[in-house]
Amino acid sequence: GTASKGEYKHFMLKETFEQPTVIKQCLEGRISATKVLDQAFGVKAADILDQVEAVQIIACGTSYHSGMVTKYWIEKYAGIPCQVEVASEFRYRHTVIAKNTLLITISQSGETADTLAALRKAKEQGLLASMTVCNVPGSSLVRESDLCLMTNAGPEIGVASTKAFTTQLTALLLLTVALAKRNGMSEAAETEIVTALHQLPGLVEKALALDPVIEKISQLFADKHHSLFLGRGPMYPIAQEGALKLKEISYIHAEAYPAGELKHGPLALVDEDMPIIAVAPKNDLLEKLVSNLEEVKARGGELFVFADESVNLYDLDDQHLVSLPTVPCCLEPIVYIIPLQLLSYHVAVLKGTDVDQPRNLAKSVTVE
Ligand code: G6P
Repeated sequence: GTASKGEYKHFMLKETFEQPTVIKQCLEGRISATKVLDQAFGVKAADILDQVEAVQIIACGTSYHSGMVTKYWIEKYAGIPCQVEVASEFRYRHTVIAKNTLLITISQSGETADTLAALRKAKEQGLLASMTVCNVPGSSLVRESDLCLMTNAGPEIGVASTKAFTTQLTALLLLTVALAKRNGMSEAAETEIVTALHQLPGLVEKALALDPVIEKISQLFADKHHSLFLGRGPMYPIAQEGALKLKEISYIHAEAYPAGELKHGPLALVDEDMPIIAVAPKNDLLEKLVSNLEEVKARGGELFVFADESVNLYDLDDQHLVSLPTVPCCLEPIVYIIPLQLLSYHVAVLKGTDVDQPRNLAKSVTVE
Protein backbone atom coordinates (compact mmCIF):
# COMPACT_ATOMS: atom_id res chain seq x y z
CA GLY A 1 0.00 0.00 0.00
CA THR A 2 0.94 3.64 -0.16
CA ALA A 3 2.91 4.70 2.87
CA SER A 4 1.65 7.81 4.64
CA LYS A 5 3.43 10.20 6.97
CA GLY A 6 0.48 10.31 9.34
CA GLU A 7 1.00 12.91 12.04
CA TYR A 8 4.67 13.36 11.15
CA LYS A 9 6.20 16.10 9.06
CA HIS A 10 8.61 13.75 7.29
CA PHE A 11 8.88 10.03 6.60
CA MET A 12 12.27 10.04 8.27
CA LEU A 13 10.79 11.25 11.55
CA LYS A 14 7.93 8.74 11.33
CA GLU A 15 10.36 5.92 10.62
CA THR A 16 12.62 7.01 13.47
CA PHE A 17 9.70 6.87 15.90
CA GLU A 18 8.53 3.51 14.53
CA GLN A 19 11.71 1.85 15.76
CA PRO A 20 10.39 0.36 19.02
CA THR A 21 7.53 -1.25 17.09
CA VAL A 22 9.57 -2.59 14.20
CA ILE A 23 12.28 -3.93 16.49
CA LYS A 24 9.52 -5.90 18.24
CA GLN A 25 8.38 -7.11 14.82
CA CYS A 26 11.91 -8.17 13.98
CA LEU A 27 12.20 -10.19 17.20
CA GLU A 28 8.75 -11.76 16.85
CA GLY A 29 8.90 -15.57 16.70
CA ARG A 30 12.68 -15.55 16.81
CA ILE A 31 13.34 -15.61 20.55
CA SER A 32 11.81 -17.32 23.55
CA ALA A 33 12.12 -15.86 27.02
CA THR A 34 15.74 -16.98 27.22
CA LYS A 35 16.84 -18.41 23.86
CA VAL A 36 17.37 -17.51 20.24
CA LEU A 37 15.29 -19.96 18.20
CA ASP A 38 17.01 -21.75 15.32
CA GLN A 39 13.85 -21.31 13.24
CA ALA A 40 14.70 -17.59 13.07
CA PHE A 41 17.03 -18.31 10.17
CA GLY A 42 14.90 -20.68 8.09
CA VAL A 43 14.73 -24.47 7.77
CA LYS A 44 18.06 -24.92 5.99
CA ALA A 45 19.95 -22.77 8.47
CA ALA A 46 20.87 -25.06 11.39
CA ASP A 47 22.98 -27.37 9.25
CA ILE A 48 24.79 -24.45 7.59
CA LEU A 49 25.41 -22.52 10.81
CA ASP A 50 27.01 -25.63 12.32
CA GLN A 51 29.77 -25.46 9.70
CA VAL A 52 30.63 -21.74 9.66
CA GLU A 53 34.33 -21.04 10.25
CA ALA A 54 34.53 -17.50 8.87
CA VAL A 55 32.14 -14.67 8.06
CA GLN A 56 32.46 -12.16 5.22
CA ILE A 57 30.03 -9.25 5.25
CA ILE A 58 29.34 -7.08 2.19
CA ALA A 59 27.16 -3.98 2.13
CA CYS A 60 26.97 -0.27 1.22
CA GLY A 61 26.10 2.92 3.07
CA THR A 62 24.16 2.56 6.30
CA SER A 63 23.99 -1.20 5.81
CA TYR A 64 27.79 -1.26 5.77
CA HIS A 65 27.77 0.33 9.23
CA SER A 66 25.53 -2.49 10.49
CA GLY A 67 28.16 -4.84 9.15
CA MET A 68 30.90 -2.96 10.97
CA VAL A 69 29.06 -3.31 14.31
CA THR A 70 28.46 -6.99 13.57
CA LYS A 71 32.16 -7.63 13.13
CA TYR A 72 32.74 -6.50 16.73
CA TRP A 73 29.91 -8.74 17.91
CA ILE A 74 30.82 -11.88 15.95
CA GLU A 75 34.47 -11.81 16.91
CA LYS A 76 33.64 -11.03 20.55
CA TYR A 77 30.80 -13.48 21.15
CA ALA A 78 31.34 -16.20 18.55
CA GLY A 79 35.13 -16.05 18.22
CA ILE A 80 34.83 -16.50 14.45
CA PRO A 81 36.89 -14.28 12.14
CA CYS A 82 34.65 -11.71 10.47
CA GLN A 83 35.54 -9.34 7.66
CA VAL A 84 33.45 -6.45 6.40
CA GLU A 85 33.85 -4.63 3.13
CA VAL A 86 31.93 -2.14 1.01
CA ALA A 87 30.54 -3.93 -2.00
CA SER A 88 32.02 -1.57 -4.59
CA GLU A 89 35.51 -2.50 -3.39
CA PHE A 90 34.90 -6.19 -2.84
CA ARG A 91 33.50 -6.75 -6.31
CA TYR A 92 36.51 -5.30 -8.12
CA ARG A 93 39.49 -6.60 -6.24
CA HIS A 94 41.16 -9.95 -6.01
CA THR A 95 39.54 -11.40 -2.91
CA VAL A 96 40.45 -14.49 -0.92
CA ILE A 97 37.60 -16.34 0.70
CA ALA A 98 38.43 -18.50 3.71
CA LYS A 99 37.24 -22.09 4.00
CA ASN A 100 33.64 -22.55 5.19
CA THR A 101 32.77 -18.89 4.85
CA LEU A 102 29.27 -17.64 5.42
CA LEU A 103 28.88 -14.62 3.17
CA ILE A 104 26.38 -12.10 4.49
CA THR A 105 25.01 -9.28 2.41
CA ILE A 106 23.16 -6.55 4.30
CA SER A 107 20.73 -4.38 2.38
CA GLN A 108 17.53 -2.48 3.07
CA SER A 109 16.35 -2.69 -0.53
CA GLY A 110 17.89 -5.96 -1.65
CA GLU A 111 18.56 -4.27 -4.99
CA THR A 112 21.82 -2.34 -4.55
CA ALA A 113 23.78 -3.07 -7.73
CA ASP A 114 27.22 -3.27 -6.13
CA THR A 115 26.04 -5.57 -3.33
CA LEU A 116 24.32 -7.89 -5.78
CA ALA A 117 27.39 -8.00 -8.04
CA ALA A 118 29.63 -8.72 -5.04
CA LEU A 119 27.36 -11.60 -3.98
CA ARG A 120 27.47 -13.10 -7.47
CA LYS A 121 31.24 -12.81 -7.56
CA ALA A 122 31.68 -14.42 -4.13
CA LYS A 123 29.40 -17.31 -5.11
CA GLU A 124 31.60 -17.98 -8.10
CA GLN A 125 34.65 -18.06 -5.84
CA GLY A 126 33.02 -20.68 -3.62
CA LEU A 127 31.26 -20.27 -0.30
CA LEU A 128 29.80 -22.44 2.40
CA ALA A 129 26.60 -20.47 1.94
CA SER A 130 25.24 -16.97 1.42
CA MET A 131 22.77 -15.15 3.63
CA THR A 132 21.11 -11.79 3.13
CA VAL A 133 19.85 -9.56 5.90
CA CYS A 134 17.25 -7.64 3.98
CA ASN A 135 14.09 -5.57 4.37
CA VAL A 136 12.36 -6.27 1.07
CA PRO A 137 10.76 -9.70 0.53
CA GLY A 138 11.30 -11.13 -2.93
CA SER A 139 14.11 -8.70 -3.76
CA SER A 140 17.08 -9.77 -5.87
CA LEU A 141 19.35 -10.42 -2.87
CA VAL A 142 16.66 -12.54 -1.22
CA ARG A 143 16.18 -14.57 -4.40
CA GLU A 144 19.88 -15.13 -4.97
CA SER A 145 20.94 -16.01 -1.40
CA ASP A 146 20.79 -19.43 0.26
CA LEU A 147 19.41 -18.02 3.51
CA CYS A 148 17.54 -14.85 4.27
CA LEU A 149 16.98 -13.06 7.51
CA MET A 150 14.25 -10.49 6.95
CA THR A 151 14.43 -7.32 9.03
CA ASN A 152 10.64 -6.84 8.96
CA ALA A 153 10.87 -3.07 9.35
CA GLY A 154 8.14 -2.36 6.79
CA PRO A 155 8.62 0.05 3.87
CA GLU A 156 11.28 2.69 4.48
CA ILE A 157 10.70 5.82 2.39
CA GLY A 158 13.16 8.39 3.76
CA VAL A 159 16.42 8.19 1.83
CA ALA A 160 18.35 8.41 5.09
CA SER A 161 17.96 4.97 6.62
CA THR A 162 16.79 4.71 10.25
CA LYS A 163 14.52 1.79 11.11
CA ALA A 164 16.18 -0.45 8.53
CA PHE A 165 19.47 0.10 10.36
CA THR A 166 18.28 -0.74 13.86
CA THR A 167 16.37 -3.80 12.68
CA GLN A 168 19.43 -4.99 10.74
CA LEU A 169 21.41 -4.73 13.97
CA THR A 170 18.70 -6.54 15.92
CA ALA A 171 18.63 -9.39 13.39
CA LEU A 172 22.41 -9.55 13.26
CA LEU A 173 22.65 -9.80 17.03
CA LEU A 174 20.35 -12.84 16.82
CA LEU A 175 22.61 -14.33 14.18
CA THR A 176 25.66 -13.59 16.33
CA VAL A 177 24.11 -15.57 19.19
CA ALA A 178 23.23 -18.45 16.87
CA LEU A 179 26.88 -18.63 15.77
CA ALA A 180 28.23 -18.09 19.28
CA LYS A 181 26.16 -20.95 20.72
CA ARG A 182 27.89 -23.26 18.29
CA ASN A 183 31.25 -21.94 19.43
CA GLY A 184 31.08 -22.26 23.16
CA MET A 185 28.75 -19.50 24.32
CA SER A 186 27.19 -20.62 27.59
CA GLU A 187 23.44 -20.84 28.13
CA ALA A 188 23.77 -18.13 30.75
CA ALA A 189 25.46 -15.79 28.29
CA GLU A 190 22.74 -16.48 25.71
CA THR A 191 20.06 -15.80 28.29
CA GLU A 192 21.72 -12.52 29.21
CA ILE A 193 21.60 -11.28 25.60
CA VAL A 194 18.05 -12.51 25.00
CA THR A 195 16.87 -10.89 28.23
CA ALA A 196 18.47 -7.67 27.04
CA LEU A 197 16.74 -8.01 23.65
CA HIS A 198 13.37 -8.18 25.40
CA GLN A 199 14.16 -4.78 26.93
CA LEU A 200 15.31 -3.26 23.65
CA PRO A 201 12.03 -1.71 22.43
CA GLY A 202 11.60 0.02 25.81
CA LEU A 203 15.17 1.33 25.79
CA VAL A 204 14.74 2.70 22.27
CA GLU A 205 11.53 4.36 23.47
CA LYS A 206 13.49 6.07 26.26
CA ALA A 207 16.09 7.29 23.79
CA LEU A 208 13.32 8.69 21.58
CA ALA A 209 11.97 10.60 24.58
CA LEU A 210 15.11 12.77 24.34
CA ASP A 211 13.69 14.33 21.18
CA PRO A 212 12.82 17.75 22.68
CA VAL A 213 16.29 18.07 24.24
CA ILE A 214 17.94 17.14 20.97
CA GLU A 215 15.78 19.54 18.99
CA LYS A 216 17.13 22.35 21.19
CA ILE A 217 20.71 21.21 20.73
CA SER A 218 20.27 21.15 16.96
CA GLN A 219 20.15 24.96 16.99
CA LEU A 220 23.81 24.97 17.94
CA PHE A 221 24.64 23.04 14.76
CA ALA A 222 22.70 24.87 12.09
CA ASP A 223 25.51 27.33 11.32
CA LYS A 224 28.35 24.82 11.44
CA HIS A 225 30.27 23.60 8.38
CA HIS A 226 32.22 20.71 9.85
CA SER A 227 31.83 18.18 12.61
CA LEU A 228 33.66 15.22 14.09
CA PHE A 229 31.99 12.11 15.51
CA LEU A 230 33.86 9.91 17.97
CA GLY A 231 33.33 6.47 19.42
CA ARG A 232 35.33 3.42 20.39
CA GLY A 233 34.74 -0.29 19.90
CA PRO A 234 31.31 -1.02 18.39
CA MET A 235 30.46 2.63 19.00
CA TYR A 236 32.96 3.65 16.33
CA PRO A 237 30.63 2.41 13.55
CA ILE A 238 27.82 4.23 15.37
CA ALA A 239 29.88 7.43 15.15
CA GLN A 240 30.29 6.65 11.42
CA GLU A 241 26.55 6.18 10.99
CA GLY A 242 25.83 9.38 12.95
CA ALA A 243 28.23 11.27 10.68
CA LEU A 244 26.64 9.74 7.58
CA LYS A 245 23.16 10.83 8.72
CA LEU A 246 24.33 14.41 9.28
CA LYS A 247 26.07 14.54 5.87
CA GLU A 248 23.17 13.02 3.99
CA ILE A 249 20.41 15.31 5.14
CA SER A 250 21.94 18.46 6.63
CA TYR A 251 24.83 18.73 4.16
CA ILE A 252 27.24 19.49 7.00
CA HIS A 253 30.62 17.89 6.52
CA ALA A 254 30.90 15.18 9.14
CA GLU A 255 33.71 12.77 9.76
CA ALA A 256 33.90 9.88 12.17
CA TYR A 257 36.98 8.67 13.95
CA PRO A 258 37.69 5.92 16.40
CA ALA A 259 38.52 8.15 19.37
CA GLY A 260 41.95 6.58 19.87
CA GLU A 261 43.02 7.84 16.43
CA LEU A 262 42.37 11.51 17.27
CA LYS A 263 46.00 12.20 18.04
CA HIS A 264 47.04 10.87 14.65
CA GLY A 265 45.54 13.74 12.71
CA PRO A 266 42.07 15.07 13.41
CA LEU A 267 43.15 16.79 16.63
CA ALA A 268 44.77 19.38 14.36
CA LEU A 269 41.30 20.37 13.14
CA VAL A 270 39.82 21.01 16.56
CA ASP A 271 38.81 24.59 17.30
CA GLU A 272 35.68 26.34 18.57
CA ASP A 273 34.01 26.13 15.14
CA MET A 274 34.08 22.36 14.95
CA PRO A 275 31.59 20.55 17.14
CA ILE A 276 32.70 17.15 18.37
CA ILE A 277 30.03 14.59 19.01
CA ALA A 278 30.84 11.57 21.14
CA VAL A 279 28.88 8.48 22.11
CA ALA A 280 29.83 7.29 25.57
CA PRO A 281 27.95 4.35 27.02
CA LYS A 282 29.15 2.82 30.26
CA ASN A 283 31.54 0.10 29.10
CA ASP A 284 35.16 -1.01 29.35
CA LEU A 285 36.29 1.74 27.02
CA LEU A 286 34.60 4.65 28.77
CA GLU A 287 37.68 5.74 30.69
CA LYS A 288 39.77 5.72 27.53
CA LEU A 289 37.14 7.68 25.65
CA VAL A 290 36.90 10.27 28.41
CA SER A 291 40.62 10.87 28.24
CA ASN A 292 40.30 11.36 24.45
CA LEU A 293 37.56 13.91 25.12
CA GLU A 294 39.81 15.71 27.59
CA GLU A 295 42.30 16.18 24.77
CA VAL A 296 39.57 17.76 22.66
CA LYS A 297 38.45 20.00 25.51
CA ALA A 298 42.01 21.17 26.17
CA ARG A 299 42.19 22.36 22.55
CA GLY A 300 39.08 24.48 22.77
CA GLY A 301 36.71 22.08 20.98
CA GLU A 302 32.97 22.26 21.63
CA LEU A 303 31.90 18.85 22.89
CA PHE A 304 28.48 17.24 22.61
CA VAL A 305 28.40 13.97 24.49
CA PHE A 306 25.69 11.33 24.53
CA ALA A 307 26.57 9.39 27.63
CA ASP A 308 25.39 6.93 30.21
CA GLU A 309 23.55 8.68 33.03
CA SER A 310 26.32 7.79 35.47
CA VAL A 311 28.84 9.81 33.47
CA ASN A 312 29.43 13.29 34.75
CA LEU A 313 31.77 15.06 32.38
CA TYR A 314 33.52 18.28 33.34
CA ASP A 315 30.99 21.03 33.61
CA LEU A 316 29.11 20.30 30.43
CA ASP A 317 25.64 21.88 30.56
CA ASP A 318 22.53 20.01 29.46
CA GLN A 319 22.88 21.26 25.89
CA HIS A 320 26.27 19.55 25.71
CA LEU A 321 25.82 16.43 27.82
CA VAL A 322 22.79 14.27 27.12
CA SER A 323 22.20 11.35 29.47
CA LEU A 324 20.87 7.99 28.39
CA PRO A 325 19.72 5.20 30.66
CA THR A 326 22.21 2.40 31.29
CA VAL A 327 22.01 -0.06 28.42
CA PRO A 328 23.14 -3.71 28.42
CA CYS A 329 26.46 -3.71 26.63
CA CYS A 330 25.28 -5.74 23.61
CA LEU A 331 22.55 -3.18 22.87
CA GLU A 332 24.61 -0.01 23.07
CA PRO A 333 24.97 0.45 19.30
CA ILE A 334 21.23 0.08 18.72
CA VAL A 335 20.21 2.55 21.43
CA TYR A 336 22.90 5.19 20.92
CA ILE A 337 22.21 5.69 17.21
CA ILE A 338 18.75 7.03 18.10
CA PRO A 339 19.87 10.44 19.44
CA LEU A 340 22.21 10.83 16.45
CA GLN A 341 19.33 10.14 14.03
CA LEU A 342 17.24 12.76 15.82
CA LEU A 343 20.10 15.27 15.84
CA SER A 344 20.66 15.05 12.10
CA TYR A 345 16.92 15.25 11.50
CA HIS A 346 16.47 18.46 13.49
CA VAL A 347 19.56 20.10 12.05
CA ALA A 348 18.28 19.33 8.53
CA VAL A 349 14.86 20.77 9.34
CA LEU A 350 16.47 23.97 10.66
CA LYS A 351 18.56 24.22 7.51
CA GLY A 352 15.46 23.71 5.39
CA THR A 353 16.81 20.83 3.32
CA ASP A 354 14.64 18.22 1.64
CA VAL A 355 14.89 15.73 4.50
CA ASP A 356 13.24 12.75 2.82
CA GLN A 357 14.85 13.32 -0.58
CA PRO A 358 18.27 14.87 -0.04
CA ARG A 359 19.97 16.33 -3.10
CA ASN A 360 22.02 13.99 -5.29
CA LEU A 361 21.06 10.85 -3.36
CA ALA A 362 18.76 7.93 -4.12
CA LYS A 363 16.98 5.52 -1.80
CA SER A 364 18.30 2.57 -3.69
CA VAL A 365 21.25 2.61 -6.08
CA THR A 366 20.31 -0.05 -8.60
CA VAL A 367 22.77 0.98 -11.31
CA GLU A 368 26.49 1.26 -10.87
C1 G6P B 1 21.77 4.35 -0.74
C2 G6P B 1 20.86 4.91 0.34
C3 G6P B 1 21.39 4.58 1.73
C4 G6P B 1 21.64 3.08 1.85
C5 G6P B 1 22.54 2.56 0.73
C6 G6P B 1 22.56 1.05 0.72
O1 G6P B 1 22.99 5.07 -0.69
O2 G6P B 1 20.70 6.30 0.19
O3 G6P B 1 20.46 5.00 2.71
O4 G6P B 1 22.21 2.82 3.09
O5 G6P B 1 22.04 2.96 -0.54
O6 G6P B 1 21.28 0.58 0.39
P1 G6P B 1 20.73 -0.84 0.74
O7 G6P B 1 19.32 -0.84 0.21
O8 G6P B 1 21.61 -1.83 0.03
O9 G6P B 1 20.78 -1.00 2.21
